[in-house]
Amino acid sequence: GEYGEGKMSSPDQIYEFIENYFSDRNIIKKKNLSALVTAGPTKEYIDPVRFITNNSSGKQGYEIARSLAKFGVKTTLISGPSALKKPEDVNFIKVETADQMYAETKKILPVDIAVCTAAVTDFKPEKYENKKIKKDSLNINFKRNIDILEFLSKNNLQRPKLVVGFAAETNDIIKFAKEKKNRKHCDWIVANDVSNSKIGFNSEYNAVSIIHEDKIEKIEKNLKSYIANKIAKKIINNFIQ
Ligand code: CTP
Repeated sequence: GEYGEGKMSSPDQIYEFIENYFSDRNIIKKKNLSALVTAGPTKEYIDPVRFITNNSSGKQGYEIARSLAKFGVKTTLISGPSALKKPEDVNFIKVETADQMYAETKKILPVDIAVCTAAVTDFKPEKYENKKIKKDSLNINFKRNIDILEFLSKNNLQRPKLVVGFAAETNDIIKFAKEKKNRKHCDWIVANDVSNSKIGFNSEYNAVSIIHEDKIEKIEKNLKSYIANKIAKKIINNFIQ
């Protein structure tokens, strides 16, 4: 037929798309933009054999790093433990703990763009035991980990020009995400619903709302690579207008 899924775009449209892609890429390259993306979970060790962590796959962050690099942004990906392959053309730093992620983040500054997708484990044991804890004496106190997003947003000396946070929520998503944005002082926050197992954590798919100033922009359910491309394009537009 004349219209529907599967119909090839017209050669003119394809030409225009490719032309725009390369002209954006050239503009970005000339601007020499740099980005930092944090991704994945962190592991907080209790003793040599035990740790606490969470279920993040790192997928959304890896895809955002891949997209930014494709647009010609010099991109560093700092990743907690993840089974994913390193994206091409990305400076890749692997870490385990939140403290290591924070230390590597500080080393990478200054950057123009920071995108914090990492599911940093909020707590770490107050004391790391060098020897394996015996099961009859298991009594652990936890303390808060440093908040990397907040550190970047409130860094007066080397604040990235654009700081983007993520908010993984199970309920009252927009309300909690807005609160998080205000509390952490980031420029945009990307909210997603992690109560739905078909999107979010450990899924190939996601659906997000990007909150900036008073505007909310929705990206409907799609592959994480598609969502990443949309977010990366929006970031790029912010620098080429
Ligand atoms: N974040 C961070 N460092 C932390 C905790 C969170 O950089 N120690 C960042 C995440 O990468 C994300 C944003 O803060 O961009 C929000 O993370 P989220 O886990 O949704 O929120 P929390 O601050 O942990 O709050 P809560 O768990 O109470 O929802």
